[in-house]
Amino acid sequence: MVSLYEAMFHRKSIRRYDMNPLKEEILEGIKQYVKNVESLIEGIKVEFTYLSSGEVKNILPVRAPHYLCIYSEKADNYLMNAGFMLQQVDLYLSSRDIGSCWLGMARPEKGVPQEMNGMSFVIMLAFGNSAEPVHRMDASEFKRRGLSEISAAKHADDILKAVRIAPSASNSQPWFFTGDAEKLNIYRARLGMIKAALYDNMNQIDIGIAICHLFIAARALGKEMELMSDEKGEAMAPKGYQYMISVAAMPSDANAR
Ligand SMILES: Cc1cc2nc3c(=O)[nH]c(=O)nc-3n(C[C@H](O)[C@H](O)[C@H](O)COP(=O)(O)O)c2cc1C
Repeated sequence: MVSLYEAMFHRKSIRRYDMNPLKEEILEGIKQYVKNVESLIEGIKVEFTYLSSGEVKNILPVRAPHYLCIYSEKADNYLMNAGFMLQQVDLYLSSRDIGSCWLGMARPEKGVPQEMNGMSFVIMLAFGNSAEPVHRMDASEFKRRGLSEISAAKHADDILKAVRIAPSASNSQPWFFTGDAEKLNIYRARLGMIKAALYDNMNQIDIGIAICHLFIAARALGKEMELMSDEKGEAMAPKGYQYMISVAAMPSDANAR
């Protein structure tokens, strides 16, 4: 078992599963972890549900013994919040040698509610024992853009190295960062009309996933970070990107907690 930070450097999407359900005590451990995941934006109502393979409709051929769905109320930035929360689970599963894969194209089957208590189904994560090697052996196996293509930030490479390898829908890596290790502005690639129809929602989830990696990496490197919005960052969006949000290091008394 490794830390979530260490798990980032070896995780990968698993698309072939041993279809036997996980042992009850392992599943219980996962459910317990899920109950305690941190939210990015406090106050957004979310709920998690578990489905098995007959209860999921997926046009792509990824079948798994278990699926974790997140439902959310549609408050501001709810997609980022959902990405942030489920990525903690993706890393947790990898840290325990359990396979997982984000499934942006899958939906609960007819008969499984798409709405509950004012919340809508957002996205799901397939998981279970992997039928292939569950980890990357080496960070060089990540197919990702170079740091200089996703960042103009100064003195933040240590943190952004962990963000660079985060998963994203179709490996689109829609993020860009400016600022420095004390304050980073986060931008998302602007999409043309056709791509937007497919990826506008998913790319917002991707940004939440990136912020999950960012917070965990910062913490592992001795810094607590928090969300903020920054007018200057917003006004200075690089060409082709739109401003999403900023993050800033909390004062060191908060870091000491
Ligand atoms: C929001 C989101 C949706 C995704 N949807 C799918 C999907 O529907 N099917 C699939 O096979 N992989 C899906 N993926 C997995 C990505 O293709 C994968 O994360 C990316 O190619 C990077 O590879 P890695 O996760 O192995 O590092 C999704 C990932 C994210 C973050």
